[in-house]
Amino acid sequence: MPFTGRTNIAVISSFHTMQSDLPSFISSLMPSIQTVLIDLADRSYPIEIGAALLGSADIYVGLPAAAAALIVTNTTVAPLYADALRAALAPKYAQVHLVALPDGEEHKNWQTLNLIFDALLQHGCDRKTVLFALGGGVIGDMTGFAAASYMRGVPFVQVPTTLLAQVDSSVGGKTAINHPLGKNMIGAFYQPQLVVCDLATLDTLPARELSAGLAEVIKYGPIADMDFMGWLEDHMDDLLARDRAALAHAVRRSCEIKAWVVGQDEREAGLRAILNFGHTFGHAIEAGMGYGAWLHGEGVGAGMVMAAELSRRLGLVDEAFVARLKVLVQRAGLPLRGAVLDAADNAGRYLELMRVDKKAEAGEIRFVLIDGPGRACVRAAPDALVREVIDACCAG
Ligand code: NAD
Ligand code: GLY
Repeated sequence: MPFTGRTNIAVISSFHTMQSDLPSFISSLMPSIQTVLIDLADRSYPIEIGAALLGSADIYVGLPAAAAALIVTNTTVAPLYADALRAALAPKYAQVHLVALPDGEEHKNWQTLNLIFDALLQHGCDRKTVLFALGGGVIGDMTGFAAASYMRGVPFVQVPTTLLAQVDSSVGGKTAINHPLGKNMIGAFYQPQLVVCDLATLDTLPARELSAGLAEVIKYGPIADMDFMGWLEDHMDDLLARDRAALAHAVRRSCEIKAWVVGQDEREAGLRAILNFGHTFGHAIEAGMGYGAWLHGEGVGAGMVMAAELSRRLGLVDEAFVARLKVLVQRAGLPLRGAVLDAADNAGRYLELMRVDKKAEAGEIRFVLIDGPGRACVRAAPDALVREVIDACCAG
C-alpha cells in the first residue's frame, strides 16, 4: 500500500537515543567507532563508522567463515584501498580474490555485472564465498545484486568509500543495475552482513563527488529531522572542508534516520519511499541526460528543489521553506536547476521518464513531497502543475 501518512520526528528522535545505547562487539574492541544497528530480525547488521577502519582485521572477525572472499571494486578505487582491505581480510580468508570493474554509472549494467560472475566462477567460488563491495554506490549496488543472485545468494559486506554510499546506498539492502529505459530497474532487496564506513576514504574523494553525497545527507532534514537541517546549515562549511568530526556526525545521523525508516519498511511497501525525496525528478535527469552525465547526487539536488517547489504549489510548505532548502543545496555545491532534456517539450520528456519510476502506479507518477518542514508524504499531482514546476525549475 502506498505511504499516505507523514513521517514522525518524535519517533525518529527517540530511535536516535536507543541507537546510542546499543552495545557493539566491534565498538568494545575499537572505542572510537560509532555503531548504528539496522534492526531487521535475522537480517540485522551493524554499520560501523570511524576513521581508518577498512584496513583493520578486527572489523571483520564476526563475519561468516569461508574459504574465499572476493573484493569487488573499480579501476579508480582499487589502487587506493584494495591492498589495505586485502591485507585485513587475509587472516580470515585463505583466498582473497579481486575484480576491478570499469568506473562509472554508465557501466552499472548487465555486461559489467557479468564480470563479477565471471570472476566468481573462474576462481571456483562456492556458496559460502563472501563478497566485499569496495567503492561508491555503483559498486555497492552491483555487488549486492551479484551477491543476491550468485548460487541464489551469498553473504556480502559493504565497504563504502563515497559520502553518498556511506550515508545512503550501502545501507538498507537495495541492490540494482540500470536499464537503458529506467534507473535501477533490475535488482533485489538483499541485506549485507556488515557496513564499514571508513571516514578516511573521504579524503581522496573528488570535490564534485563530495557535493553529490551531500545531496543525500540534506534530504534527511526536510523528510524527517529539521534539527539536522539546522545542524547542516551550521556545519556545511565544515563538511565541505572534510572536517572529520562533522563528517562523522553527518554519516551517523543519516544512517540513524535511514535505519529507522528501513526498520519500519524494509521492502518499501510505503514509508521507505520518503527516502526518494528529489529522486523522481533526479532519476529523470540522470536517464534523460544519459547515465553518468549528471551525478546521481546532482540529480537529487536539483530534484529536491523541484519536489519542494511542487510541494509549495500544492500548499504543503511555504516559500520560505523552499528558499531555505535552495540555499543549503547551493551551498553544498549542487545544481539548483534541472537539466533541459528536450528543447521542444521538456516537461513532456520529464513526465515520460518519470512514469517509469518505481513509485508510479498504473502510469500515475507519485512524488515524495514535503508536508510541512520535517515531514514527508507520497502522493500524485496533476500533470499540469508538474509541467509548471518543470518549466519554472529547469535551466534555459
Ligand atoms: P560512484 O559509485 O560512481 O562513485 C563516484 C566516483 O567516485 C567514482 O568515479 C568512484 O570510482 C570514485 N570514488 C569512490 N570512492 C572514492 C574515493 N574514496 N576516493 C576517490 N574516488 C572515489 O557514485 P556514488 O555517488 O557513490 O553512488 C551513486 C550510485 O548509488 C548510483 O548508481 C545510485 O543509483 C546509487 N544509489 C543507491 C542507493 C541504494 O539505496 N542502493 C541509494 C542512493 C544511490
Ligand atoms: N535510497 C533510497 C532507499 O534506500 O530506499
